[in-house]
Amino acid sequence: MGSSTYEWMVRNADQVAKETGSPWPYNKPAWVFSSRKLPMIDGADIHFSNGDVRKAHEAMKVAAKDKNIWIVGGGDLAGQFYDAGLLDELIIQVGSATLAKGKPLFPRRVLSPTLCLISVQQMGVGMAELRYEVSKSSEHESA
Ligand SMILES: NC(=O)c1ccc[n+]([C@@H]2O[C@H](COP(=O)([O-])OP(=O)(O)OC[C@H]3O[C@@H](n4cnc5c(N)ncnc54)[C@H](OP(=O)(O)O)[C@@H]3O)[C@@H](O)[C@H]2O)c1
Repeated sequence: MGSSTYEWMVRNADQVAKETGSPWPYNKPAWVFSSRKLPMIDGADIHFSNGDVRKAHEAMKVAAKDKNIWIVGGGDLAGQFYDAGLLDELIIQVGSATLAKGKPLFPRRVLSPTLCLISVQQMGVGMAELRYEVSKSSEHESA
């Protein structure tokens, strides 16, 4: 995850602990990307990383073995993995609310057939989950 996402968790550690039982609900190693020195969360297995995502990805692959690697976000960090050809799938959960403004979900220009919709799942009355496979054969275009 990027530093904004991580800092949200640091700022809201009490709320996260109340909801999940721990200020850091992940029991897997995690990589946090930042150019700054950030506070550590007690008990969390966190590696701080700065710069080219390919270097961190090598270490993530060793830790994950045959398991998936989840890029939490934000969108530009996921985009950096996409630029390096390291994204296999986009999992997008759409909530039943619209925002008048905000950050782009995935600030890259990616068109069909690079993105292939592989599943759509309704989650209660308020959410839907879309899964897209990212084809590696098409050219990447950045916007
Ligand atoms: N709903 C969800 O599932 C979900 C998931 C993720 C995020 N979010 C939310 O979406 C928002 C995302 O914010 P954001 O777009 O600002 O994203 P972010 O990815 O969390 O943070 C962006 C910051 O990460 C650091 N960074 C990114 N790439 C880096 C790299 N290669 N090397 C070193 N540092 C790097 C930079 O900050 P510095 O160098 O200044 O530290 C950059 O400004 C947050 O509000 C977050 O809570 C929601």
